[in-house]
Amino acid sequence: MKKLVVLISNKGSGTNLQAIIDGISFGKINAKIISVISDTDNAYGLIRAKKANISFKTIKKRDNLIKLLQNLGVDYICLAGWKQIIPDKMIRTFPNKILNIHPGLIPDSLDGVVKNPDGTDGLWNRGKFTQKAIQNFLDSKATYAGSSVNFLSHEFDFGQVLGRCFERIKKVDTVESLYVRLKKKENKLYDDVLVRLCQENGKTIMVIDGGGRGAVLVDKYGQSKYVGRILVVPGNDLMQINTNKKVMIYPNLKTTSTKEILEICKREKVDLVDVAQDNAVEAGLVNKLTKIGIPSVGSTKDAGQIEWDKAWARKFMKKYQIPSPVFYKFDNEKDGINFAKKNPGKRWFIKASGLAEGKGAIAVTSLNEAISAIKEMKRFGKSGRTYLIEEWLEGEEFSAFALCDGKNFKVVGYAQDHKRANDGDRGPNTGGMGCVSNPLVVNQNIKKQVKEIFRKTINGLKKEKRPYKGVLYLGGTVVGSEVYVIEFNARWGDPEAEVIIPSIQNDFYEVGMAILNGKINDLRLKIDEKVRVVVAATSRGYPVDYSGTKGKKIFGIEKLKKIEIKIFGAGIKENNGNYVVNGGRVLYLMAEGKGVLETQKKVYNAMSLINIEGNNLHYRKDIGWRDIQRL
Ligand code: AMP
Ligand code: GLY
Repeated sequence: MKKLVVLISNKGSGTNLQAIIDGISFGKINAKIISVISDTDNAYGLIRAKKANISFKTIKKRDNLIKLLQNLGVDYICLAGWKQIIPDKMIRTFPNKILNIHPGLIPDSLDGVVKNPDGTDGLWNRGKFTQKAIQNFLDSKATYAGSSVNFLSHEFDFGQVLGRCFERIKKVDTVESLYVRLKKKENKLYDDVLVRLCQENGKTIMVIDGGGRGAVLVDKYGQSKYVGRILVVPGNDLMQINTNKKVMIYPNLKTTSTKEILEICKREKVDLVDVAQDNAVEAGLVNKLTKIGIPSVGSTKDAGQIEWDKAWARKFMKKYQIPSPVFYKFDNEKDGINFAKKNPGKRWFIKASGLAEGKGAIAVTSLNEAISAIKEMKRFGKSGRTYLIEEWLEGEEFSAFALCDGKNFKVVGYAQDHKRANDGDRGPNTGGMGCVSNPLVVNQNIKKQVKEIFRKTINGLKKEKRPYKGVLYLGGTVVGSEVYVIEFNARWGDPEAEVIIPSIQNDFYEVGMAILNGKINDLRLKIDEKVRVVVAATSRGYPVDYSGTKGKKIFGIEKLKKIEIKIFGAGIKENNGNYVVNGGRVLYLMAEGKGVLETQKKVYNAMSLINIEGNNLHYRKDIGWRDIQRL
């Protein structure tokens, strides 16, 4: 961890100091401020330092300052409003250690010019202090104002540039209005520069998941400027495909191997764990990690009961008036069968209360089917001991996802999964055969209702003393124009994650930190507008019996690497240089585009390049059909 000293004065209000303090407390900047030093007693920044419990001093003589900084063993000295000229002696003593922010665009060489984002020449403002510099942007009729962070050198207002920011000048701008906006960019720039400088080898992230959802998380964390390497439990052999950061997998562990996971986290000094899988939530992994001080993004066991105990979840929904189907709960076979007999001719969903890999719900349309479905509940072991008989809600399904920090939430996206194994929504329920993002069924009216449901749920869970932190998944169905909750899940959906996570343009480590620190309202989410379609490539026979395909070779992965498509591995393994089948959903292909038709075409073109030995590849050929029909 780097040691910083911040030099301030009574000039300004210390916003750069505050930005550094915040950057550190959110875990973005891997540093500690060992002292805030002012050249006057009345600097507002001193109050900020005091509030943040940082030691501070006032020093009036320059020579004392050099000695003091040497004694402190400082790594970087950040000028953030210091008024006195830094003497050459100090620059010599601390080469490439004194950071400065200058209200102008410092070029990389003395005779160079920085280009603005629109290609015009940026203004250096050499020798001009803040007010004069801003005035100069306006007087020169520049299109952009800008600031630079640089290492101080013996050349005045020059030195290695560590970062620059730009702000577009508006016709109506005054010095004040332009300065307010530029200042905000400056604060962020200072933070970003420090993040990079203080990063040692980057953060170590651990992702708990083995499938496509884990793969897209690895992809996204891999893009983070904070992240150095990613460990995945259990992961799969295709995890490395989307990132050049180092990926390590633990194929012999389960997502519920909490003891081993905790040991690895300690040994490998993991900075953040993303608990993405439902079994791990039920096993209380987040609680256990938190106990030993390892930050983790995901639901606690208590909050996650909303997924792993469907009977509890339905009761909760009823209590908080969240629209959901009528349900009846049973703990033994006999009572359920008697109930079904008393209500013949009804269409129900019979559901195991516990986790069942998305396969625990059985649709029934007659008494005979109901009885055999109830008898089937045994198959789910402990998960099926309690089961529900639910009113069958006839409607169009969608999923919605919110990032929650315990108190507040932000909806990040919508998707439409295709759960049945075969085209035309026929065949058995699966974990999910493919998805489109932003399905057309989710119109403004639906979005409004979804937000209200999330609000009630987050507030309700808080009231129940199970504050929800992490990603909350709402599986909804639209009956008429009303949203009903089919289920909540305490995690991203799979394959929904594969179309929603790529749309999030924020640094994913920052997203995680906002969730952890209760700062979701401060996170300025950037979501792109692309349409995404993902299709699961599965083993023939999935989800019923696909044991015969295990170990069969997968052909065509190399061809996929050459075209514009994202590959997210799931039930896949490498064996003597070949990729082989290691599960039901083998991998996912995801395409991005403008419209659903064009995007769907891209995915299926890619899909036509692969196969499983013995023609054992199965996939749905109609992912996105509802949206296409609506065109
Ligand atoms: P679940 O096991 O709760 O994830 O349910 C799996 C799938 O079964 C859901 O995605 C729905 O397609 C369907 N389903 C479950 N419960 C109901 C219900 N009460 N009405 C209609 N469809 C349901
Ligand atoms: N795609 C459904 C799920 O993740 O539960």
